[in-house]
Amino acid sequence: MEGVRILNMDNSGVPSLRDLSARMEAATGWRIARIPGLLHEKDFFKLLSQRIFPSTDYIREKHELDYTPAPDCFHDMFGHMPMLTEPAVADFYHLFGKTALNATGIQRTWLERLHWFTIEFGLIRQAEGLRIFGAGIISSKNEVTHALSDSVDVRDFSMDAVINQDYEVWHLQPLLFALESFEQLEDAFRHWTKKEGLSV
Ligand SMILES: [Fe+2]
Repeated sequence: MEGVRILNMDNSGVPSLRDLSARMEAATGWRIARIPGLLHEKDFFKLLSQRIFPSTDYIREKHELDYTPAPDCFHDMFGHMPMLTEPAVADFYHLFGKTALNATGIQRTWLERLHWFTIEFGLIRQAEGLRIFGAGIISSKNEVTHALSDSVDVRDFSMDAVINQDYEVWHLQPLLFALESFEQLEDAFRHWTKKEGLSV
């Protein structure tokens, strides 16, 4: 919610990528590039490694309000961008991009899972209780209610648990991981890259 405020998002319309990019750059040094849709993973990682977030600028159809398998600007702007104004998330995602560029074979699969269970479907424990920060949840009304319900198996985040956990894209997520803090994510990942010989 703090990120939404920093980016000056309100209900007057879809914000411009140029304005969002300027505000994000002032907050954490991330900028935004407009892209036509899903990118090849190498191009995606390359942009992240340069602290550039690729964003779509088209919006989903009315019948896709709850879920769309391909990203649209509601997912990119409202789901991802506010989180990139948070310094530890911004630094983690930058390091993630640089690391993913160098990863090969099974390491790529591990990083896909890490991305899924944090950036897209992550939860975090805060003083007020369990909170959502993953963009895949934030941009789906059903996932938002489901993620904080009793039907989800919420486990403590650890690099080992997450990289070994398979997932499916096509239904509400039965299993999620909760961080203790965003610094925990950045520290655990940095430590893991050293162990894997993937330091950048
Ligand atoms: Fe996403």
